[in-house]
Amino acid sequence: NGVTRSVAAESDTPLLYILRNDLKLKGAKYGCGLGQCGACMVLLDGHNVMSCEVPLWSVAGKSVTTIEGLGTLEAQHALQRAFIGEQAAQCGYCVAGMIMSAKELLDRNPKATEAQVKEALAGNLCRCGTHNRIVSAVMRAGREMGRT
Ligand code: FES
Repeated sequence: NGVTRSVAAESDTPLLYILRNDLKLKGAKYGCGLGQCGACMVLLDGHNVMSCEVPLWSVAGKSVTTIEGLGTLEAQHALQRAFIGEQAAQCGYCVAGMIMSAKELLDRNPKATEAQVKEALAGNLCRCGTHNRIVSAVMRAGREMGRT
């Protein structure tokens, strides 16, 4: 998130544990712990990864972006505004991961089609069933990001 951080931990500790427990960045969530749900999604050098299965040693010297790195309450990222605007959450547990997947996609292709959005979010599970609103939010953010 734009700052250099160092931690003292076993080198095979999952990045997710370091983010949440050592660095107190609680946005990325622990869902399955097996790389299958997307709740822990962050960007590593701009590419989305499941942080529960990324060992700390592999992150050294790389850029990690979490949901905390996207925007603030006062200056929200387009995706954060769109998720609020579309009310694209129920319990909200999956949302940080959804937004990070969407950011990776829209950074590459802000004009992504609905089919491309659905494909990009296929690895992010929502058990509340808000996928339709989530896709609408990503499309909305894409329209905004495509304009700027
Ligand atoms: Fe990492 Fe589910 S907690 S993919």
